[in-house]
Amino acid sequence: MAKIIDGKKISAQVKDECRERVAKEGLDVTLAVIQVGNDPASSVYVGNKKKACEYMGMHSLSYELPEETTEEELLALVEKLNRDEKVHGILVQLPLPGHIDEDKVIETISPKKDVDGFHPQSVGALSIGQPGFVSCTPAGVIQLLKRSGVEIDGSECVIVGRSNIVGKPMAMLMLRENATVTVCHSHTKDLKEVTKRADILIVAVGRPRFITRDYVKEGAVVIDVGIHRGEDNKLCGDVDFDDVEPVASAITPVPGGVGPMTIAMLMNNCVEAKGIQNA
Ligand code: GUN
Repeated sequence: MAKIIDGKKISAQVKDECRERVAKEGLDVTLAVIQVGNDPASSVYVGNKKKACEYMGMHSLSYELPEETTEEELLALVEKLNRDEKVHGILVQLPLPGHIDEDKVIETISPKKDVDGFHPQSVGALSIGQPGFVSCTPAGVIQLLKRSGVEIDGSECVIVGRSNIVGKPMAMLMLRENATVTVCHSHTKDLKEVTKRADILIVAVGRPRFITRDYVKEGAVVIDVGIHRGEDNKLCGDVDFDDVEPVASAITPVPGGVGPMTIAMLMNNCVEAKGIQNA
């Protein structure tokens, strides 16, 4: 029986630590959240981020822009928020409508307010071990591992997926923690042979229940970043939980694993942003 890594509990710990810091130090923190269009999933995420700010004792400014907003209008808003000293973090919810260049928008956010950690300067800083904001989901995975007592130093870590938001920053973070890191992707030959080497297997492929027990070494720690609604209408991850759980030593469930950590780390980044801008 694997230990279940409880993301709800650990995210509550992280949020409560941040909340305490906000209260104790009397921090006046404001996050600006921009959504363009009304993609239902984005609306849920944005609503959860605003609720989390409220819980933390932080302010949120909400910009709900119509689908037909031009790139120029969005860039002008980001620049205005960059200059606004009362705003400490800026988050532009992705995906953006097709007529807006996401890279251009991300590059316009001031690296000092880049609480998503998506700006090329933040990504570059992470890869050379300099301070900067770290993408919230991979930062959350590190907290899950550390707070569950998983030894990262010297471990074999295999990451399945190479996205800019999860796979690549995850590799950098695990390297920073002294793991030996392998990143797999759609061109990897004999994926099972590689994933079976992992002491820590982190999966972010975006395919429901893709990882079954034949990809997993006995006793591995398995972290599932995926979230999908299965054909049975139940939420599931990239890992076939019921199949893998008996061979893993520890595993994250979906829901209630990695998911809740993303917002907790965003709140943490907002508090850090306030610190940087006050320094
Ligand atoms: N869309 C899906 N996840 C994220 C995220 O973490 N940040 C932003 N800005 N957009 C997203």
